[in-house]
Amino acid sequence: MKFFVDTAEIDEIRALAATGMVDGVTTNPSLIARSGRDIAEVTKEICDLVPGPVSAEVAATEAEQMIAEGRKLAGIADNIAVKVPLTWDGLRACKTLSDEGRMVNVTLCFSAPQALLAAKAGASFVSPFIGRLDDAGLDGMELIADIRQIFDNYHFETEILAASIRTVNHVKDAAKMGADVATMPPATLRALASHPLTDKGLAAFLADWAKTGQSIL
Ligand code: E4P
Repeated sequence: MKFFVDTAEIDEIRALAATGMVDGVTTNPSLIARSGRDIAEVTKEICDLVPGPVSAEVAATEAEQMIAEGRKLAGIADNIAVKVPLTWDGLRACKTLSDEGRMVNVTLCFSAPQALLAAKAGASFVSPFIGRLDDAGLDGMELIADIRQIFDNYHFETEILAASIRTVNHVKDAAKMGADVATMPPATLRALASHPLTDKGLAAFLADWAKTGQSIL
């Protein structure tokens, strides 16, 4: 499973990229707004830090405008995945941009039929939003399982990018369901390595080691 980090904060991306666990980055208009940065500048910096796909989202809602914005965003770096919303205009833009050989991430996916449309439009990634479905009292993980089954039935190459991930258990469950990628906030990625028994066990080992008076180096 690939891990993408869902942020436009350069310092967070740099620190996490140094762990070797970051395979890509996703951004969206809300994250760009939160960064306070110019979209072209911050996206270029992210692309220089992380060689894997970096999703940059269009802001237009009409297909031709989305295509124009997508081409401009794709010109920032070779590893840009143009992000378009799962609307009919977004799907048209996806088809055009994909046919031009560009990576496209179709975002705001909340149903399996929507994911099927994204795959048929040639998307490199489709982003089902797990957390927002759970927030609405629905089952985000069931959607990942449904999409996995459908994509496998028809051998679609579109990658399932589990998005709107809020917890470590979301990552575990998305992996069990066969999602290709999980994009998560920096805090969730950091939390993947945490376990209280790891901390407790390490403290005990270090205390016993100190009693030996030895040094390995
Ligand atoms: C993914 O590409 C989205 O940017 C992100 O996962 C949305 O997450 P949220 O529902 O926590 O805002």
